[in-house]
Amino acid sequence: MSDQIKTIGVLTSGGDAPGMNAAIRAVVRIAVSRGLQVKGIQRGYSGLLNEEIIDMDAKSVADIIQKGGTILYTARCEEMKTEEGQKKAAEICKKHGIEGLVVIGGDGSFQGAQKLSHLGINTIGVPGTIDLDIACTDYTIGFDTAVNTAMEAIDKIRDTSTSHERCSVIEVMGRSAGYIALWCGIANGAEDILLPERWDNDEDMLINHIKDTRKRGKKHHIIINAEGIGHSQELAKKIEKETGMETRATILGHLQRGGSPTCKDRVYASLMGAYAVDLLCQGKSNRVVAYAHGEYVDFEIDEALAMKKDIDEFQFDVSKHLAR
Ligand code: ADP
Ligand code: F6P
Repeated sequence: MSDQIKTIGVLTSGGDAPGMNAAIRAVVRIAVSRGLQVKGIQRGYSGLLNEEIIDMDAKSVADIIQKGGTILYTARCEEMKTEEGQKKAAEICKKHGIEGLVVIGGDGSFQGAQKLSHLGINTIGVPGTIDLDIACTDYTIGFDTAVNTAMEAIDKIRDTSTSHERCSVIEVMGRSAGYIALWCGIANGAEDILLPERWDNDEDMLINHIKDTRKRGKKHHIIINAEGIGHSQELAKKIEKETGMETRATILGHLQRGGSPTCKDRVYASLMGAYAVDLLCQGKSNRVVAYAHGEYVDFEIDEALAMKKDIDEFQFDVSKHLAR
């Protein structure tokens, strides 16, 4: 099956995500089972440019499926955005006999993979980001763990918010995407959910809503605010001033990116890693693995990057009616 390729590489790039280890493990073990050599590239494209390349075998990925983070480490690398950096990266792959490369990361990382593909290295992207902001796929590695971690933290904040009869503004990650906020907002029964894709800056409406829920006897008012909107401290101050309700802001931050991956993240990441190796064995390149409409599929990276992701209208509509 793998006539065309003898050695593949694997790297993680961009923000880490729980489940990346499961994907690395699957890439390595499936590749080994197909008779391929595997090289692990540490610290993303930065490590590739510095030739931080290690041999990997089935044993090197033992005892990692349950671990958060990425055993290959990750990085962001400006040099890879330059033509010179991309050529150097392709040369280094060739020097180390890496004919195929699995890149686990987000849209930015896929752009690097696309460039390497055009320079003769067969590359396959696997969507790894807690943000769920990759348009071609309904699932990205790490989102499930991140929203579960955030949900548990928000439940705890809700307890203290109720005891003190306070308003809480809780900021969750997602870069410019609102999916983590939307899912936490629904799962935590938030009174308001602020999403960058839909936020119209109408703070007066928000404040009136808080006054209204207070009048109706609510003991707390939980606002899930997406990182893409930000300014949670300022918003909390304004709410306190205008409603008279004691208000606290909490920015959940990087705790959302850590921790042992959920069952879903372990299994989906394993299947996507295996799917990526199969594509390389078929001689494919410049593809990204996706999960769409209940199936594992793949898209050309160019096509995947051209797609735009918006908040699902049904999910948004339901969330508006539930948040009261
Ligand atoms: P993510 O992969 O999660 O979207 P980033 O956007 O930070 O994260 O991208 C990760 C890395 O991918 C960057 O640090 C850079 O090395 C590489 N990358 C991003 N954009 C490009 C690009 N236009 N061309 C080549 N490489 C890129
Ligand atoms: O893309 C994942 C993510 O955690 C985003 O939600 C967030 O905006 C960003 O990475 C934070 O990056 P850093 O870890 O570099 O602060």
